Amino acid sequence: MTDFVKILGITDEAYDTKTFEFQMDEKASPGQFVMVWAPGMHEIPMSLSKTGRIKSITVKAIGEDTKALHSKTVGDVLRVRGPYGRGYALEPDRRYLIVGGGVGTASVLPAVKETGADTIIAARSDKDIILRDRAMKYADNVWIATDDGSEGFHGNAVQLLREKCAEKEYDCVLACGPEVMLYFTLKACQDLGLDCQLSLERFMKCGAGACGCCVMDGQRVCRDGPVFSRSQIEKMKDFGNSRRDECGRIVKFR
Ligand SMILES: Cc1cc2nc3c(=O)[nH]c(=O)nc-3n(C[C@H](O)[C@H](O)[C@H](O)COP(=O)(O)OP(=O)(O)OC[C@H]3O[C@@H](n4cnc5c(N)ncnc54)[C@H](O)[C@@H]3O)c2cc1C
Ligand code: FES
Repeated sequence: MTDFVKILGITDEAYDTKTFEFQMDEKASPGQFVMVWAPGMHEIPMSLSKTGRIKSITVKAIGEDTKALHSKTVGDVLRVRGPYGRGYALEPDRRYLIVGGGVGTASVLPAVKETGADTIIAARSDKDIILRDRAMKYADNVWIATDDGSEGFHGNAVQLLREKCAEKEYDCVLACGPEVMLYFTLKACQDLGLDCQLSLERFMKCGAGACGCCVMDGQRVCRDGPVFSRSQIEKMKDFGNSRRDECGRIVKFR
């Protein structure tokens, strides 16, 4: 479904991150994403940080297109395609621990709303923490981790996850963030005997399963993911190792 939507509201989340609200009647579930375009920019994928009739995207300005989105004001029009992809598979009786790293917090926020589960929000410093107030509306426990120790736990998301799992029992971790964080989240879940669902990012053009540019070990991240189960990710050789750029060239993570 393609919609031309008016921006209804803009919230500054951090010095480089803004949330844009718009109305889109199409049903969406936590972890799904949309393809967003406006004149003068490429179409880019964005997770839905709100999935009701009023939806939102939370955009970190890192390059040309995300900066173009940041220049928009209330009343401006965006073209939005979607929602696309498979989100988090949420079951009522499972004990989830939710982890958002950086702007990846946008993808997990609707799952925090739906489950009220304990949540870790990780950021480089106190200036980079996003969506904490909204997470606190839905979850009793929202823990912050910062790399530089300027707020909350001094360390990364996975170190805090290991601490919290030593204090309390969980069945499954839901996480979105930089791939290095997801890589070590998977390792922690393997060590702790926990299930997990991780939301992955790859370069996307069509967003709908047609072009093949987001393929990872035979799986289309846009259509079969972006959220994958632990057993799916354990079979992916590219996970944590390499991705493809906009021309299809392989780029190594390390
Ligand atoms: C499923 C999914 C959900 C995402 N959700 C969010 C979100 O909620 N908030 C957010 O701020 N960002 C999100 N992103 C990342 C966002 O799409 C990129 O940051 C954005 O496209 C960068 O564009 P740019 O021109 O500003 O930066 P550039 O300088 O062009 O690129 C910066 C980085 O973004 C990657 N990128 C560029 N274009 C694309 C593309 N079409 N598809 C995938 N990656 C691309 C590049 O490979 C590069 O690593 C998501 C990406 C995916 C795949
Ligand atoms: S972006 Fe085209 S198949 Fe995934």
